[in-house]
Amino acid sequence: MSPSLTVSRIAAQQGSVLRELRTASLREAPYAFGETLEDALLVEPSSFDATAELHANSPRLATFLLYTEGHPCGLVHAYIEEAPNARAFVSALWVAPAVRHLRGGELLVNVASQWLAEQGAAEVHAWISEENRTAMRFYERLHFGPTGDRRAMPSHEQEAESLFVRHMHAEHHA
Ligand SMILES: CC(C)(COP(=O)(O)OP(=O)(O)OC[C@H]1O[C@@H](n2cnc3c(N)ncnc32)[C@H](O)[C@@H]1OP(=O)(O)O)[C@@H](O)C(=O)NCCC(=O)NCCS
Repeated sequence: MSPSLTVSRIAAQQGSVLRELRTASLREAPYAFGETLEDALLVEPSSFDATAELHANSPRLATFLLYTEGHPCGLVHAYIEEAPNARAFVSALWVAPAVRHLRGGELLVNVASQWLAEQGAAEVHAWISEENRTAMRFYERLHFGPTGDRRAMPSHEQEAESLFVRHMHAEHHA
């Protein structure tokens, strides 16, 4: 039987859970992210407490956690850039290998997108490494399409990432 997967917004006191998931994701999938494991390990653990508190309460920044049977097993960040651009993004998406292909990633991105739409976003963006074919297919299945924008990946300058966007009409409510 498939384990049941649920998503909820991070709580203010979950800094250590955030640190655990973020370092696990950077260790397991270093090719996927602009930050490196070394970067994350250099940061004071207490700064994850401050991030969790902010991401639990801010109208502009949030983290959503995936759980299986009460155990944290994935995450995604959602944020809205400062004005004037004020574009909405999902980032840092990761699902633990043991619970992949069960639609946990889809649930995370849909809950984060829904929250961004509630904050007024008409579009949700994601930067995706061009090497990361799985993530590209995954996002395309969720109706994200390429914008044509590209840039060098922060922390992996020799690799490029592409900007994808999803228009927030009715499809994510279905
Ligand atoms: C990308 C990632 C988040 C997807 O997470 P996931 O929980 O496996 O995602 P989903 O289950 O919603 O969908 C993933 C794939 O599984 C397939 N799938 C979903 N349910 C399935 C099932 N019951 N059986 C088989 N396949 C299934 C989907 O069709 C999808 O396949 P496709 O991309 O070929 O169309 C995960 O692979 C991951 O963490 N990768 C490493 C980090 C990363 O790349 N992050 C993205 C950075 S941009």
